[in-house]
Amino acid sequence: MAQDSDNFFQEQKDWSKRKLSIIQLYLAGFTKILGSSTSQSCVYYVDGFAGKGVYDDGSKGSPVLAAEMSQTYRNQQKKYQLNCINIEADNVNFQNLENSTTQYRSVVENLNGTFSSHIPSILKSIGKCPAFFFIDPFGVTGTDWIDMTKIIHRAAPTDLWLRFDHKTVRRLSGFFESGSRGADSKVQRLLKLYGVQRADHLFQKLDGNTREERIENAVNYYLERLESELQSFKKFGYSAGIPIISLAGQNKYHLVFAASHPKAVILASETVYSVERNRPQEMQEYQQKKTGQLFLFSSEPSDEEISKFKAEELIQDIWRLCSGKQLDRLEIYMKLLNSDKKKWFGRFSGAHLNLALSIMESETNPRIVQRTGAKSQDKTTFKFK
Ligand SMILES: C[S@@+](CC[C@H](N)C(=O)[O-])C[C@H]1O[C@@H](n2cnc3c(N)ncnc32)[C@H](O)[C@@H]1O
Repeated sequence: MAQDSDNFFQEQKDWSKRKLSIIQLYLAGFTKILGSSTSQSCVYYVDGFAGKGVYDDGSKGSPVLAAEMSQTYRNQQKKYQLNCINIEADNVNFQNLENSTTQYRSVVENLNGTFSSHIPSILKSIGKCPAFFFIDPFGVTGTDWIDMTKIIHRAAPTDLWLRFDHKTVRRLSGFFESGSRGADSKVQRLLKLYGVQRADHLFQKLDGNTREERIENAVNYYLERLESELQSFKKFGYSAGIPIISLAGQNKYHLVFAASHPKAVILASETVYSVERNRPQEMQEYQQKKTGQLFLFSSEPSDEEISKFKAEELIQDIWRLCSGKQLDRLEIYMKLLNSDKKKWFGRFSGAHLNLALSIMESETNPRIVQRTGAKSQDKTTFKFK
């Protein structure tokens, strides 16, 4: 287990709040889109490593935040329902989870035991309903590849957010060539995490010249595994990861996303953007609190200036990726989200894309020469010069 597991629930840390903001916002969008558009009115949230429900400092954890959302939808008599299934292996944490969710009994089911052992019965009970899985372990234990594949092979819409602990992966990969006692079991854990057979191949994949490069390789190889698994089973597959950085600037872990529908990918990217856009201000507040000094930035850019700057950056890539083609908005969006090692994932909003497309259409020598509908519609086609 990771070293921080003992006191994890004492206080909800700033980076945990960031993670939870992403999960909460994504879950709201996921439920709304899938609950309204599929024939199934049920949507499931499966919290595979649910925790206590409420932290010792009173902050709400992922299962309580989801249960509240579900209850709100029920109170508002939405046409869709959000059902929550939480799994927790630790008996004490499970008891706390039960206590913190008693008032949501009608929308929540708590299961005691490991995520892995409950997967078959969960898959049976959620049937063909769309499901969002949140996998939030300590370290890498309990998230073997074999279990991930059971989830991503579901035929029904299935989105996944997972805490990927690059620090534990780095620590375990130190055992590849160590020859020490117990090294073999550590290497086996890594092989099970990535779902590969050969230690020498995995070692090559994870190796790199610098610490940063090795972290990047560890995350990217996992993303590659998820994406190729999805693509071999479904028409479409996408996976991306973002570093979760504390306000003090530490790279704590990565939050990994995977889904098999472009709209889910766009929702994920926009969710990350909207949570992360407050980050510079939060970091400044943190620094001020810590040092007691007031930092004054001479000229803060306005929202309008930021949008224009983003749109100009986007235009360069849109032009590089789309010139000479006729594409709909969804295709343009996905080209951006797939380009250059997915550098755009979580870095812009739909409004920025609309602005970029508007500029390209209205410039003196327009690069968009034809459009079939409103700029904000997925199906609208744009013809690039
Ligand atoms: C990081 S905490 C979860 C925090 C929670 N998602 C939140 O944000 O409020 C991980 C939890 O998973 C539990 N756990 C550990 N191994 C597990 C397993 N194999 N299956 C299910 N739960 C497990 C731990 O006891 C712990 O409560």
